[in-house]
Amino acid sequence: MATMITDRIKEKPNSVICLASGDTLKLALRKVVDKATQQQIDFSAVQFIGLDEWIGITAETHGSCADFFNKYIFLPLGIPNNNFHLFNGTAIDLEKECKKMDEIILRLGGIDLMVVGIGINGHIGFNEPGISTSLKSHVAELQETTQSVGQKYFNSTQILKEGITLGFQHLIDSKEVILMASGVAKAQIIQKTILGEISEVVPATVIRKHPNALILIDEEAASSIAEKERIRFNS
Ligand code: GLP
Repeated sequence: MATMITDRIKEKPNSVICLASGDTLKLALRKVVDKATQQQIDFSAVQFIGLDEWIGITAETHGSCADFFNKYIFLPLGIPNNNFHLFNGTAIDLEKECKKMDEIILRLGGIDLMVVGIGINGHIGFNEPGISTSLKSHVAELQETTQSVGQKYFNSTQILKEGITLGFQHLIDSKEVILMASGVAKAQIIQKTILGEISEVVPATVIRKHPNALILIDEEAASSIAEKERIRFNS
């Protein structure tokens, strides 16, 4: 996984890479940092886009998406401020914040690679069940599940009613997408994502419409997929 990211950067040093925050990406990003350091990969021209942010949470708050990106990738690699673009979850004008992000992506020539996780309700970013697949950046009301699972990132209880996120139009337009999932908690939603009907009821199923997407899961996340289905899927 880490090699896929570093390879893309070697091939195209000014790649535009969108990353999700969250536990799933931690290990992968640690490895990216290790590889980049060992192999002296030049990240100076890479442009990073943050997938999402909690509304009302400052970038400095431990557990915010910005805090995650800073800790796991930007600070270790010394990425300059001009080379990463994150949503401000405390912006007064959130619509303007969405527009700004869409314009940045357009100006950069689109996203080359998106590396995303999945929520247990099937969300990608904050694209919750029922969301339209034609949206770009938008503000989303968060389901109860997302609000309660999201508490795991913070030191104290937070109000997590809304999120600001890239939309599925960005995912569809991205040249390449990698969805990662690990652990048994993701097993059922991964089974639905891979084998269920493609529908906004399970937002992550949209990834199956993408011509250059990869779903990367560990054994535990694959544990709800029967052996015969694995063979069918692999063939
Ligand atoms: C969170 C974030 C997503 C993240 C997903 C999975 O709510 N909004 O961007 O990818 O849910 O998180 P985790 O990897 O911690 O399970």
